Amino acid sequence: MPVTTHLIYFSPTSTTKMIVEQIAEGIGDTSVAHHDLTRLKGGLDLRLDDGLAVIGVPVYAGRVPEICLERLGGLSASGVPAVLVVLYGNRAFEDALIELRDVAVAKGFTAIAAGAFIGEHSYSTTTQPIAAHRPDPADLAKAREFGWLIARRLRAGIGLAMPVIPGDVPYRERPPLGGVAPETDPGLCTLCGTCAALCPTFVIKVDDRVLTSAEGCLKCCACTKGCPAGARTLHHPTVETRCEMLVNQCSERKEPALFL
Ligand SMILES: Cc1cc2nc3c(=O)[nH]c(=O)nc-3n(C[C@H](O)[C@H](O)[C@H](O)COP(=O)(O)O)c2cc1C
Ligand code: SF4
Ligand code: SF4
Repeated sequence: MPVTTHLIYFSPTSTTKMIVEQIAEGIGDTSVAHHDLTRLKGGLDLRLDDGLAVIGVPVYAGRVPEICLERLGGLSASGVPAVLVVLYGNRAFEDALIELRDVAVAKGFTAIAAGAFIGEHSYSTTTQPIAAHRPDPADLAKAREFGWLIARRLRAGIGLAMPVIPGDVPYRERPPLGGVAPETDPGLCTLCGTCAALCPTFVIKVDDRVLTSAEGCLKCCACTKGCPAGARTLHHPTVETRCEMLVNQCSERKEPALFL
C-alpha cells in the first residue's frame, strides 16, 4: 500500500471535499495530505513520485471547470496511481470524468479508478432544492466503500488497470461564464467579509459595501450559501430558467457510479 494518500481537490461548496475525504477514510492505513485548490493563488506546484492521489473536481456544464485546469497546472507525477472523482448536482456528469482522466494521464498519473458522485447543486435553495443536503449518509458510505475496494485491489496488486470511463471525446463545448454574479442586499448585509473569504476567484471586496467583479464569477454559490445573514442571492434570468429546468427534470435521485 502507498504510504501517503494525496487529496487534490477544488470544492467551493465543500461537497467534492466531503467525498474525497470519505474515499481516503475508506482507503485507510495511509497518511493523508490535503492539497486544496479552492483558494490557491497561483495554482498547485507539486511533483509526486510515490503515494496515491485522489483528484476531485465539481462538474460544471458537463466538463471539468476551467479554473481547475488552471489550478492543476503545476501538478505532475511519475506513474503514481490516481483515483478520479467528479461531483455533480444530480443532472449529469457527461464528459467531465473522461476529461479528468485525460488531464491526469497527461500529468503522468496512472488512472486506477474513477467515481461520479452527487452533491447539492450550486443553484439549490430552500425554495428550489436540487439534490439538497447531498452527499448524504448513503453517499458518504458509498465513498468509503469505494476507498475500501481500491485499497483491497492495491493490496492484492491488481489495481493498475485503466478503468473504462463514460464520456465523449472531443468533449462537449464549454459555455462562457457569462458575467453573472450574486447580488448583495445592503439591508441584510453586516459587512462581515465571509463571502470574500470563501470566494475561490477572489472577485469580492468588502469595505463599506460589498463589491463583486462579475467577470470572474464562477456562479459556484459559495458566497450565497456561506453568507450568515442570507444577504447574497444569485438572481438572473438565465440562472432562474436553469433552476426551473433542474427542479422539474432532475429531481429524481441519481446514485454514485463507480468505475474500477
Ligand atoms: C456553473 C455551474 C455548472 C454546473 N453544471 C453542472 C452540470 O453540468 N451537471 C450537474 O449535474 N451539476 C452541475 N453543477 C452543479 C455542481 O456540479 C455541484 O453543485 C457540485 O456538487 C459542486 O461541488 P462543490 O460543492 O465541491 O463546490 C454546476 C454548477 C455550476 C456552478
Ligand atoms: S457574507 Fe453576507 S453579510 Fe457578510 S459581507 Fe458578505 S454579503 Fe455581507
Ligand atoms: S462571487 Fe461568484 S465565484 Fe465568488 S463565491 Fe460568489 S458565486 Fe462563487
